[in-house]
Amino acid sequence: KRHLISAGDLTKDDALLILDTAEELASVSERSIKKLPTLRGRTVVNLFFEDSTRTRISFEAAAKRLSADVINFSAKGSSVSKGESLKDTALTLEAMGADAVVIRHGSSGAPHRLANWVHGSVVNAGDGTHEHPTQALLDAFSMRRRLGALEGRRITIVGDVLHSRVARSNVLLLGTLGAEVTLVAPPTLLPVSVGTWPCEVSYDLDAVLPKSDVVMMLRVQKERMNAAYFPSEREYSRRYGLDRDRFAKMPDDAIVMHPGPMNRGMEIAAEVADSARSTIVEQVANGVTIRMAVLYLLLGGETA
Ligand code: CP
Repeated sequence: KRHLISAGDLTKDDALLILDTAEELASVSERSIKKLPTLRGRTVVNLFFEDSTRTRISFEAAAKRLSADVINFSAKGSSVSKGESLKDTALTLEAMGADAVVIRHGSSGAPHRLANWVHGSVVNAGDGTHEHPTQALLDAFSMRRRLGALEGRRITIVGDVLHSRVARSNVLLLGTLGAEVTLVAPPTLLPVSVGTWPCEVSYDLDAVLPKSDVVMMLRVQKERMNAAYFPSEREYSRRYGLDRDRFAKMPDDAIVMHPGPMNRGMEIAAEVADSARSTIVEQVANGVTIRMAVLYLLLGGETA
C-alpha cells in the first residue's frame, strides 16, 4: 500500500506486519541504537491544519530516528491564513520534494483528497471526526505489549464517540485483529451510523467494566461540542467518568488507556490516569515506534 488513510483499509496481515515491525524497531531502540539510516535522503512533510502535541512531535521524532529530512508545516502562521487552498498548499510542498505527507486536518476526507494531488505517500494524522489510524495502531501495539495477542480480548471504549476519530479507527482495527469492542456513551454522543460498526453498544458503564480487559477513555471534545449533545460536565462525569470507585470494578489485570489530551477530573480521575495500570505515558512512547514502522513500510521497506 502507498498511503495510510483509514484503519479500515488494513487487512489483518497488514496490521500485524506494522505491529511486528514496530516490535523489531522497539528492540533496536532498547539496544540503545537511537538512529537508523533507512530513510536517508527521503523527505517527510508534517502538514498540520489542526493543533497537536503528541502526533506531530512523534511523527517528527519517528522520521528523524529513521534519518529522513523533516519539514514541519503548521497552518497557523502560513499562507493558509491568506486563503490559500489545501490543494495549492499541497502542490507547493510537493514542489519541495515530499516523499511522504503526514496530514492532520479539521475536515473528514482531507487526506483522501490530498492523495489525488501529490505523488508521495499520504499518512492520515487525524481528519475531522473520521479517522486517526496511527493512533489505533499505537493503541493496539500498547495493548499487545501489556496483554499479548488481542484475539477475544474485551475492549471497552467510553465517552464522546460522536466526535472521536480515535474511536472509529480503533473499532475498525481492533475488529480486524479479532478483539471484541463495546462502545459506552450517552445516546447523544453516538453517531447515527454506529449500528453498522463492528462492535456492541451499551449505555451502562458499571455493567461493562467488570467484563473488560481494556478500558479506553475518550476526551470530551468541547471544541466540537454542541450544548444540545452535552448538558452538564457534572452529569457526564457522574455517569461516564472513570473515577476511583469505577476503577475498582475493573478486573485486577485490566488496563486503562486514553489517547490524550485528557480532561483530568471529567472523563478520567487524575489518580486513575496516573496509576500503574494506566498505559497513557506508554502510549505516547509507543506512538514514536509505530510511526517509525509506518514510515519505514511506506517509504523504505517491504510493501505493507
Ligand atoms: N492523541 C492525539 O492525537 O493527540 P494530539 O492531538 O496531541 O496529537
